[in-house]
Amino acid sequence: MLGSLCLSLSLSVSVCLCLSVFQMTTKEKLITHVLAGEPVGSRSKVTVVGVGMVGMASAVSVLLKDLCDELCLIDVMEDKLKGEVMDLQHGSLFCKTHKIVGDKDYSTTAHSKVVVVTAGARQQEGESRLNLVQRNVNIFKFIIPQIVKYSPNAILLVVSNPVDILTYVAWKLSGFPRHRVIGSGTNLDSGRFRHLMGEKLHLHPSSCHGWIIGEHGDSSVPVWSGVNVAGVSLKGLNPDMGTDADKEDWKHVHKMVVNGAYEVIKLKGYTSWAIGLSVADLVESILKNLHKVHPVSTLVKGMHGVKEEVFLSVPCVLGNSGLTDIIHMTLKPEEEKQLINSAETLWGVQKELTL
Ligand SMILES: NC(=O)c1ccc[n+]([C@@H]2O[C@H](COP(=O)([O-])OP(=O)(O)OC[C@H]3O[C@@H](n4cnc5c(N)ncnc54)[C@H](O)[C@@H]3O)[C@@H](O)[C@H]2O)c1
Repeated sequence: MLGSLCLSLSLSVSVCLCLSVFQMTTKEKLITHVLAGEPVGSRSKVTVVGVGMVGMASAVSVLLKDLCDELCLIDVMEDKLKGEVMDLQHGSLFCKTHKIVGDKDYSTTAHSKVVVVTAGARQQEGESRLNLVQRNVNIFKFIIPQIVKYSPNAILLVVSNPVDILTYVAWKLSGFPRHRVIGSGTNLDSGRFRHLMGEKLHLHPSSCHGWIIGEHGDSSVPVWSGVNVAGVSLKGLNPDMGTDADKEDWKHVHKMVVNGAYEVIKLKGYTSWAIGLSVADLVESILKNLHKVHPVSTLVKGMHGVKEEVFLSVPCVLGNSGLTDIIHMTLKPEEEKQLINSAETLWGVQKELTL
């Protein structure tokens, strides 16, 4: 009697087990979940706002450098956004970023460490960066509060043009402290300068040191006094460098930096790869806490004789708290004068803006 009861009990247990195994999903059969509670979220999430040419070049550059554990894309053009997200997801086997997401709803951006803002109109052929301003300010009025709502501790990296004015706008609209609002500024202009210097000297750009500061754009300032290779000052070798008297016309190198974007836009319609790579360079310094010095746009009121509340590029230290320090450059009076002129030009535009 007891024996047959045991037999029927064990039969029904094994039938139940068989049935429940039968009802289990492949995933449940394959994996035993160990963690109790919610997993720790992303630690190094990067959001890129705007999936145009610049946004996608930045996103791909960030992915290829393995900088984040989650990449989030945002745009107002839903189909384009969905297509870009899917396209990147299909490449995830070849990258080391676990999660790639995108949506027009900003809740997807929650807990971002760095938010790269590339959204907005771009220059038309021959159009100056300053001309874009009001169109892009209106776009920022929508974007920035959404970012702040979902990632109140993020570092904002502004790329949209005119980048110095829009970094100021992002700073005002976000209410973030100045160390967490950075403009990509002249990181790209300095990269262009070092590439052209390298071409002239037949050296790799990383061995050619030179700083372009001030406005990202037409009034950028080349610091000729600091141009060097292996600590050897080129101005020391050629005191006319950067002046009209220079027989080697190094001034033309800076002219090519200023005209570089216009030329690329004329040839291919937009610029993308160099700015994307330069954005990833900045994101790397932030997320890896490198304390590397970059020429990026920050509030320079009170520095080098600048009186206005404007953002311009000067050498800044970047790490995981954002922009922590500014390096004091020893500028020549002429260089300071150019910087002050840039500041006045920008302030002339900024003071007319309604934020
Ligand atoms: N700082 C630099 O060195 C640098 C270099 C190149 C370009 N840029 C600037 O970057 C910006 C983008 O250039 P691009 O060539 O990628 O332009 P693009 O036209 O290819 O892309 C812009 C994207 O922004 C999106 N967008 C517009 N409004 C939006 C909103 N409210 N929210 C979210 N997304 C929105 C558009 O849908 C589009 O996908 C421009 O302002 C351009 O001048 C800056």
